[in-house]
Amino acid sequence: MKPIIVTGLKPSGKLHLGNYLGAVKQIIDIQNSEKYECFCFVADYHSLTEKYSPKEKKQEILEVVIDLLSLGVDPQRSVFFIQSHVPEHANLAWIFNNIVSVGKLQGMIEYKEKIQEGQPANAGLFNYPVLMAADILIYKADFVPVGEDQSQHIEITREIARTFNKTFGKTFNEPKIVLSKGLRIKALDNPNKKMSKSLPKGCLFLSDSPEVIRQKIKTAVTDSGKEIVYDPKNKPAISNLLTIYSEVTNKPIQRIAATYKNKGYLKFKSDLAENIIIFLNPFQEKRKKFAASPEKIKKDLAIGSKKAGIIAQNTLKEVKKTIGLI
Ligand code: ADP
Ligand code: TRP
Repeated sequence: MKPIIVTGLKPSGKLHLGNYLGAVKQIIDIQNSEKYECFCFVADYHSLTEKYSPKEKKQEILEVVIDLLSLGVDPQRSVFFIQSHVPEHANLAWIFNNIVSVGKLQGMIEYKEKIQEGQPANAGLFNYPVLMAADILIYKADFVPVGEDQSQHIEITREIARTFNKTFGKTFNEPKIVLSKGLRIKALDNPNKKMSKSLPKGCLFLSDSPEVIRQKIKTAVTDSGKEIVYDPKNKPAISNLLTIYSEVTNKPIQRIAATYKNKGYLKFKSDLAENIIIFLNPFQEKRKKFAASPEKIKKDLAIGSKKAGIIAQNTLKEVKKTIGLI
């Protein structure tokens, strides 16, 4: 049997270049290697922990589904579904809630950060890592590909598995984190912050039109001086643009820097914008096609949740037996 990979993405806005290069690309590469059994889902329950509009939620979920399909998540090769369509995740999370200490959850960095950012301290946000552990353990995952910011959540997942096994008998593996190569794309208007949908001005969305891309790159901040060199410490802005250039053209950073050494920012930026446009074009074309076939998407998702549901139901039944509920 192939090792099992589980990963999820929150539907809280259109995906951007940082999401793709830092997270989704790795998921697609893993799927295409055909070495793993992949489960990939849209974490709609998790997204309820943040402020949202019920009117827009459905559309937001669909947008992320379309983004993922257009980037290469293939329902033939991955089990692709929406988290809330497999209710066993939430059922297992409830069981796990009883073996996790409040103190442990209070120590979660992401929880503390989100509250500092002004998000309401609701119990869902507090219990976020418990649902995440259930997402992962319900499929008895071996590996979880996520960004570095999620590593504490994988650690608590391992602890939950360990505690459960110790208390009730061996049931779960302790899944390992798979980190992407650690790329952190920075905001175009502030190289000291990561590119994020919460800073839309400095964010290159995958569905941005060529005009918008040209404008965003043209107005991207640069560092003092004129040289185009890769030096993330002293020249974070130009280094970020060089990283993006390298990722979208698949050329080594040093070669790009050498090409533009004395050509100035203007030429560099205009070529960068055109390269991003070329890079995103196949994705954007696919996106149009997927967006025009919502019925097909619905069918694929239904197949995905059915496949996931069979495994999730089995694990939940095993857990319920183990803890004495049935
Ligand atoms: P956002 O900051 O836009 O809200 P999320 O927190 O929803 O993005 O991130 C989803 C995934 O994309 C995570 O695995 C995260 O590590 C990755 N990611 C987000 N922003 C970046 C970035 N600027 N560079 C690299 N990876 C990123
Ligand atoms: N918390 C993850 C993020 O913000 C999303 C997520 C939810 C997830 N459940 C998961 C990732 C299970 C991996 C496995 O990126």
